[in-house]
Amino acid sequence: MTSKLSERMLRVDQAGEFGATRIYAGQLAVMGNRAPGSGEIAGMAMQEAAHREEFDAMIVARGVRPTLLQPVWSAAGFALGAATALLGPEAAMACTAAVETEIERHYTQQLEDLGDEDPELAARIEKFRDDEREHHHAAIAGGAERAPAYALLSGVIRLGCRLAIRISERI
Ligand SMILES: [Fe+2]
Ligand SMILES: [Fe+2]
Repeated sequence: MTSKLSERMLRVDQAGEFGATRIYAGQLAVMGNRAPGSGEIAGMAMQEAAHREEFDAMIVARGVRPTLLQPVWSAAGFALGAATALLGPEAAMACTAAVETEIERHYTQQLEDLGDEDPELAARIEKFRDDEREHHHAAIAGGAERAPAYALLSGVIRLGCRLAIRISERI
């Protein structure tokens, strides 16, 4: 039996992992696969796809309604990825660093809220949280902080992520 809490978490987490795959798809569409950093991005994209698949399966198995905003996140994620890639490889990495900062915080908060409830969900969240942390490190190592207007870019993206999280829990 899936509690309201787990249901809300699964909805937003599936939406987030879906959004992540769309961000990387947008970046790779602009960068192609020979640009600096694109190998790294393709690797992270594969992990996001795996995260998404696991949440997709859980949503189906538990009969949780996915977010109604899937088409919005699809377009917004792709646009964010494409726009940051157009600014350059460092801006693409800054996007990942900003997104993963918020996602890591979000997953950590969820683990706290879940406590001993729903170990199946908690185990996944914990595993993915560790992957997102690695993505964050990779993005910083990839020059995220050297992106033009890094502080502004990062702040705007982080704010957008927080809004998207709040909205996807409910809608
Ligand atoms: Fe992920
Ligand atoms: Fe990630």
